[in-house]
Amino acid sequence: MAKTVEIGQVGLGAWGKNLLRNFNAINQCHVRMACDSDDMTCARVSEMFRGIGLTTKYEDILDDDKIEAVVVATPPAQHYELAMRAIEAGKDVFVEKPFVLDLEDGKKLVAAAESKNRILMVGHIMEYHPVSLFLKKYVEDGILGEVYYLYSSRINLGKVRDIENSLWSFAPHDISLIMFLLDKYPCRVTATGADYLQTDIEDVSFMTMHFADKTMAHVHVSWLDPHKERKLTIVGSKKMVVFDDTRATEKVWLYDKGVDARMDYATYGEYLNLRVGDITLPHVPGGEPLRLECLHFLECVRNRTKPRSDGRDGLRVLSVLQAAQRSLKQGGVPVEVNEID
Ligand SMILES: NC(=O)c1ccc[n+]([C@@H]2O[C@H](COP(=O)([O-])OP(=O)(O)OC[C@H]3O[C@@H](n4cnc5c(N)ncnc54)[C@H](O)[C@@H]3O)[C@@H](O)[C@H]2O)c1
Repeated sequence: MAKTVEIGQVGLGAWGKNLLRNFNAINQCHVRMACDSDDMTCARVSEMFRGIGLTTKYEDILDDDKIEAVVVATPPAQHYELAMRAIEAGKDVFVEKPFVLDLEDGKKLVAAAESKNRILMVGHIMEYHPVSLFLKKYVEDGILGEVYYLYSSRINLGKVRDIENSLWSFAPHDISLIMFLLDKYPCRVTATGADYLQTDIEDVSFMTMHFADKTMAHVHVSWLDPHKERKLTIVGSKKMVVFDDTRATEKVWLYDKGVDARMDYATYGEYLNLRVGDITLPHVPGGEPLRLECLHFLECVRNRTKPRSDGRDGLRVLSVLQAAQRSLKQGGVPVEVNEID
């Protein structure tokens, strides 16, 4: 039987509770202690999850030698300090997205984890979504043909953050997913956005990643929008596919549509021939992405293996975010992305 991993979690807010619920429901894991600096939150969580030790002091987790791994689910401004202290205390670490708010801090965390031989995983949940794995196979197997361009939207009327803007809050999901699917690095990005509710914190952002081979990926994120959308469209030379994550079922729509060049054309108008074929709704074997992500972390801790979304994956996403932020603050000028190994 798999060894039980003893974990501690810091940050028990809106999302932290979901992580706690998942870790708590996994047999091969025991949540030994959970921490939130807010005592009212601790009291609420102790009502919901009986049997988990609650504390307002993070040191209680760090000082507990039985705790092997720490889950960090606080606001991102605290990620660096809390994750670093956990690594220094000899713990493996799962950090929610956005990894940290500064690329240099991210590099320091990766270096610390590597030098202490600790597992460091970033909560890029879309890399664990069953549909993402399904679409990656489409791309790799050439079902879509050459991927021309992609666009995604992650918008709703939702939680307004007061430190990180919509780009940093939401786009890590899209950037990590797009780079995971394409397995390549953008060479430059452009981004625009606007702050309506709070000075300098953009509520809405539009970002485009440009790849060296002309592939293009556009990302629209906002917490100030009447629609709830979690949608990705991929346009390929052979087929096109839409991943609609707000649907409970039939999340993937595959379109046999495209434009083919004809050899037997008489006029230029006949040269490009529209192909309008079937739409299919392939069955994608399911699983809750968050549970799959938690299971992956535990497996990496147990087997000492590299997480799919390890610290270096976190750095790759940060390098794109940082370039996009620079572009956004300069009115959308193209900014080169420095590639991270
Ligand atoms: N993967 C996803 O889909 C997803 C979704 C939502 C949020 N998130 C991420 O999860 C993280 C938390 O987001 P949230 O919505 O739960 O935020 P939140 O503000 O609701 O909760 C944060 C909690 O952390 C606590 N906290 C803050 N600093 C602390 C410290 N130093 N020590 C102990 N507790 C501390 C706060 O008291 C609060 O209860 C963020 O990084 C966010 O981006 C991820």
